[in-house]
Amino acid sequence: MATRRDFILGVGAVGVTLAGCGSDPVAVGDGSGTPPEVPKDFDFPTITPLPFAHGVASGDPLKDRVIIWTRVTEVVQSASAIPVSWKVATDPTMKTVVKSGSQSTNADRDWTVKVDVVGLLPATTYYYQFKALGFPSIVGRTRTAPATAVESIRFAVLSCSSYWSSYWSGLAHIAKRNDLDLVVHCGDYIYDFVDEDETVRARNDKKDTAHPDYRDWLNLTELRRRYALYRAEPSNMRAHQQHPWFIVWDNHDIDEDYGNELTTPFDAEKSTTTLAQTTQAFWEWTPSRPLKADGSGEFILVNDGSYPAPQDSKLVWRHLPYGPMLDVIGIDTQIGLPGHGLTMDSSHLSSGNSLMGRPQFEWLTKTMLQSSQAGVTWRFVNNQTWLAPADIPDVVDGVATPKLGLTRWPDYTEERAAWFQYLRGSNSASTRVRNNIVVSGDTHGNWGSDLIEDTNLIGEYLPGVPLPNLRQGSTPANFPAGFGRIGTGNLGPLNLRGTSVGVEFAPTSMGRGGADEIVANTLKLPPGSAPTVIGARAIELALITANKNCQFIEWVDHGYGIVHIAADRAVFEYWWQDKLTPNSPDVLGRQMIAWAQEDSSGLVGKFQDQLNEVSMFGLSVEPTSGTRTAVPAPEGVLKPA
Ligand SMILES: [Fe+2]
Repeated sequence: MATRRDFILGVGAVGVTLAGCGSDPVAVGDGSGTPPEVPKDFDFPTITPLPFAHGVASGDPLKDRVIIWTRVTEVVQSASAIPVSWKVATDPTMKTVVKSGSQSTNADRDWTVKVDVVGLLPATTYYYQFKALGFPSIVGRTRTAPATAVESIRFAVLSCSSYWSSYWSGLAHIAKRNDLDLVVHCGDYIYDFVDEDETVRARNDKKDTAHPDYRDWLNLTELRRRYALYRAEPSNMRAHQQHPWFIVWDNHDIDEDYGNELTTPFDAEKSTTTLAQTTQAFWEWTPSRPLKADGSGEFILVNDGSYPAPQDSKLVWRHLPYGPMLDVIGIDTQIGLPGHGLTMDSSHLSSGNSLMGRPQFEWLTKTMLQSSQAGVTWRFVNNQTWLAPADIPDVVDGVATPKLGLTRWPDYTEERAAWFQYLRGSNSASTRVRNNIVVSGDTHGNWGSDLIEDTNLIGEYLPGVPLPNLRQGSTPANFPAGFGRIGTGNLGPLNLRGTSVGVEFAPTSMGRGGADEIVANTLKLPPGSAPTVIGARAIELALITANKNCQFIEWVDHGYGIVHIAADRAVFEYWWQDKLTPNSPDVLGRQMIAWAQEDSSGLVGKFQDQLNEVSMFGLSVEPTSGTRTAVPAPEGVLKPA
């Protein structure tokens, strides 16, 4: 079995001179020489030649601008500030340059470079490259948001990408796709600690709990280094190189305990990391556009090429207008948890218990209503943790039962209900907001659901019948792969799921363990063995039976999702890979659909804000693809390990 180290060495053997894919060199100006050697004792995770040792990235695209990112890494710091030039072109060989500029970086921002490139055309693919200290970076590819109608919009969705849990074949598959507009990460972009059962890999194959790459971070330096570790992983680096990203944080990115969870030899040495530092590192290392400190949700738009620094690093909820078909919204349901010590304004709720806080709640609902009233077809919310009920339901209205606590929303049911009732129009049908898509992570399971807040078993909402998902997972043991409802619950014009206000698509984790790992750890069974899958099936069946909103659940396989958005439909695909096998193939585990317009003329009615398996409507399961194929950015070489 090839290891990550073998892979890096194999690629590195090609040579360390930066060269484009094929014969075209991609040197900038006179920077065509051999990059500086990295001494063998330089203990810092890197992946591409110095000084741009973590490749490039881009994110938060708007119709006329996009953030591009890189970091300058030196073995020995040569100056207190380093100038970095950048350029943007319309071709991957960087011949047709349309924008260029320069920026200076320093230790205060951990030597990261972020440029908000302005004056770009909408729905256009661009290529970009940096240069510093006489050497060029690899070339990145990015894409602006559309301003007018497009045939389709395609996103990859992922979450919970634990470096130690998986070989991340899914990130390699995302990198190879040439028809994506955006990669959406729902949080746990990095992990603060290594779980006891995470034995897939370690940096340089050293599972050493005394080493900062294999334990909780203890301070800001080690936290920044964690981002470097993740971004020095080949598939993650490629996925950032080839696509713009839209990222929000979750409980491991800005953990409440700031890296003090795992029993390690460092128990006596507690982390000194603060909330301000953890959020600061997020803004330094992700290609995200910061926000104004006033809580308006408006971006800080930097037009002069200077570093777009956040005014308040704790604000992450934001909105990307994505043309007449889609609005992209990112929310924060993590920082308001009590452990962070922030005071949430909960004056909009009688319980006084708010996860989002009133400013975010009002911004979110207003943004969704304005989007709907402007005639935008779909709203897409990048959420963190399963939003729809995934719990033991109340049998009788008003008689509470004990809860499982699988997500954090059972502690904030009033706020969830207030949000859903707002989308329902609260007082008048003219304010109803339809066609809402929520994407979620956190729970490491594949989940598809209608969005209802009513957990009573008996109520207005009536679903179809759960049956096994007769598709093969990424391993032979995973068949049939989960449970989905067959039959919509609706008959012709009879809409029995009409209280749903949207659909939730949670395409598992990029590696972090699911129900099978819970079974394996509890019963001391080998990971991935057939009995662990059988145990997970029992949990899935119990959850889909008890939670009538749930339309699909599979809690064994891992990977990512594709959301294919068109004017009449949104198609959702669960793509799985065996996390324990390098270069694992991409397997389509389930394909589901939501309709943008109501059509109840057929035997099976099409209703908005309801999630169904595609065959319910006579469609065959065929992977979607885009009508556009963008030329990839030249890979460039990875450095030897
Ligand atoms: Fe997670």
